[in-house]
Amino acid sequence: MPPRPQIITSITAMQAQALAWRAAGKRIGLVPTMGALHEGHLSLVEAARKENDFTVATIFVNPTQFGPREDFAKYPRTLEQDIALLSPAGCDVVFAPTAEEMYPPHCTTAIEPPQVASVLEGTFRPGHFRGVCTVVLKLFELVPSERAYFGQKDYQQQLVLRHMVRDLNLPVKIVTCPIVREANGLALSSRNRYLSDAERNSALGLSVALQRVSHACQQGESDGATLRDLMRSTLTEHGIDRIDYATLVQADTLEELSVIRSPAVALIACHVGTTRLIDNQCL
Ligand code: PAF
Repeated sequence: MPPRPQIITSITAMQAQALAWRAAGKRIGLVPTMGALHEGHLSLVEAARKENDFTVATIFVNPTQFGPREDFAKYPRTLEQDIALLSPAGCDVVFAPTAEEMYPPHCTTAIEPPQVASVLEGTFRPGHFRGVCTVVLKLFELVPSERAYFGQKDYQQQLVLRHMVRDLNLPVKIVTCPIVREANGLALSSRNRYLSDAERNSALGLSVALQRVSHACQQGESDGATLRDLMRSTLTEHGIDRIDYATLVQADTLEELSVIRSPAVALIACHVGTTRLIDNQCL
């Protein structure tokens, strides 16, 4: 059994450890998270372990990426459980700073996100990607890493971060890992724990809608409007009536497609009860 990871809460200690590893020629794999870990996060740790000498998972519920009416206050904080999950996963360090450590009162600098942040989540969660880019850039500075691992579940987030890395010439490679799903298709998410049993059934509508679209594309359907209708009607059939978007876009630019051509991605964001869920499927 691998040893329990070292827990670091101070920025100075984290940076010193990471720089010492780098000076010794070691490669660091960074797995940024907000905690409330599940198998999806553990798959990122697993990938990082395979490709690097040391793996650092960060656990920080980043206040700057939540809107005023979002779930920052109630977002699950399960540090002890998270550490227990990370230990057998072979993570070397858990960096779990406080909000005061990350954002002291003088800290007013923020990152202007790239163009691809302006649509989809950017429309429904104004300021979200500004918060994500700012905290992730800080983490890249605190833990200078060879590679950083993100889940495809947050498709737009990994794309935004890829564009940020490209535009700012950051010396880190973004690795996107596949979505991990329950056997019934539900994409794992820290927010699934908010769902009642009935809501979990409704939530299956997201993966069913994506499967139907994927199947229809494979059968030769390429009309964007028809495919969007198919997603919406599937969500409605599952009792989901508050849909932020259910759309098909070009995979690199997120431009809406009226005729589907590869590489494309189907993306959904909708509300199941009071829980907002997202999911996607590359086509
Ligand atoms: O995907 C998340 O959990 C967060 O957006 C991230 C990347 C850890 C930044 O806070």
